[in-house]
Amino acid sequence: MTLISNLSQSKSPDTHLSLKQQLQQWMQECRASTLQLFDGMDYDTFCQQAHADFSPVGWHLGHIAYTESLWLLEHLAGQPPQFPEYRRLFAADTLPKTDRRYLPPIAEVRQYLNTIRTQVFTYLETAPLDQQERLWRWLLQHESQHGETIAIVLALLERDKGDQADRRDERDEGDRKDEGDRTKKVAKQSASPSSSPTQPSLSSLTPPPSPSPPTPPLLTEMICIPAGKFQQGNDAIEALDNERPVQWIDLPTYWIDKYPVTCDQYRQFIQAGGYQDQRWWSAEGWQWVQAHLITQPLYWSDDPRHDRHPVYGVSWYEAEAYANFVGKRLPTEAEWEKAASWNPISQQRMTYPWGENLPTHQHCNHNHFMGQTTPVDAYPQGQSAYGCYDLLGDVWEWTASWFTGYANFEPYPYRGYSQAYFDDQHRVLRGGSWATQPWALRSAFRNWYYPQVREVFAGFRCAADREVIAVIQPQP
Ligand code: AVJ
Ligand code: FE
Repeated sequence: MTLISNLSQSKSPDTHLSLKQQLQQWMQECRASTLQLFDGMDYDTFCQQAHADFSPVGWHLGHIAYTESLWLLEHLAGQPPQFPEYRRLFAADTLPKTDRRYLPPIAEVRQYLNTIRTQVFTYLETAPLDQQERLWRWLLQHESQHGETIAIVLALLERDKGDQADRRDERDEGDRKDEGDRTKKVAKQSASPSSSPTQPSLSSLTPPPSPSPPTPPLLTEMICIPAGKFQQGNDAIEALDNERPVQWIDLPTYWIDKYPVTCDQYRQFIQAGGYQDQRWWSAEGWQWVQAHLITQPLYWSDDPRHDRHPVYGVSWYEAEAYANFVGKRLPTEAEWEKAASWNPISQQRMTYPWGENLPTHQHCNHNHFMGQTTPVDAYPQGQSAYGCYDLLGDVWEWTASWFTGYANFEPYPYRGYSQAYFDDQHRVLRGGSWATQPWALRSAFRNWYYPQVREVFAGFRCAADREVIAVIQPQP
């Protein structure tokens, strides 16, 4: 089977490195990825509160250094706090989010990060890593997650600007209609990427279109996952507290979408008046959609170039309503994880849908490589043993499950990291997004947000107890 053909390669591209060197390299790569988001940023953006529930990006940057200093320099190395004056500003449990706008100059915060990092690497030289590896790995994932939140805040600020520009550009709509032009635009877009010149073109990831394509497939296929036990969770050294311990779970047969729901599909819901039709909504969802006058996803794009991209910027309620609309439901996180990580041939769990190799840009769209979403079928090398696509990267996927601890949960490194959110108020998301750094990207990784949150780069795929053939028809 092609799906596990990469298992023969080494797990890490750098097996010649010692663990110390490997951690140091990852921390440097992670930091480069974080700092890239701040390239050319002005102080206004640095301090701006894009949304009441999200801190300014400058706060996240300082908080990354504060947390690194707290856990590695204070807890592990036993050093006194380096910058006690930063505790009040950058600890997560002191200031309310709206008071996090009053930040030192960008250069000063960056200097704070550099100073801490220099001391951390000095300590790393003599640190007893065999007893500390879990905490160092936790820290890498802590920065990764704040890196993604920074990207979210920047997307919100960008969106505010974009809304204004869109109103000016409304006359450009006319040239988006025919299919041929659409293809050209995709090619053009990937030939001149906005971020990095080393990006591959989209056309190198997707097969060339057949000469006279029939009606384009709507990517609504479902995959049957036969009844049986699988191992949920992760007890590898990088596993966070909420992924542990590994547990056997028995699931009856179910069906799950081969792909995340695309913009093309979601448009049918909008056009059918889905947002105005109480039938599809739970009582809570209906109340929410009306109270906030929601009529489309937060990051909604009507651009035909995004037809095959996953819809994102939806709340859990919107995901639930769409699933009802097509006669399906959201998968539980166990269903999502089995489809992503279980290898029915070897009867073993795999870290990634494709096996054990660390994520690369051949496997999935992550770490800002494309700077946006990509078509849901763009990464055949990333498919799972059962043949599901796009499970990791591109967009987070809402699941039906509340965030809760697995049996015999043990908090790490502090109760407030996960356990404080086991409150039956947060829904689990899986899979990571185009902005997720590789250290926080794996099939067992669990994210969680309130069901009304739409700012996260989150879409969804649906599931069902039996196969549901697409009720959606292509637009004429
Ligand atoms: C798991 C992404 C919801 O950002 O609030 C960062 C991760 N926890 N610092 C968050 C986290 C502590 C958390 N999320
Ligand atoms: Fe944090």
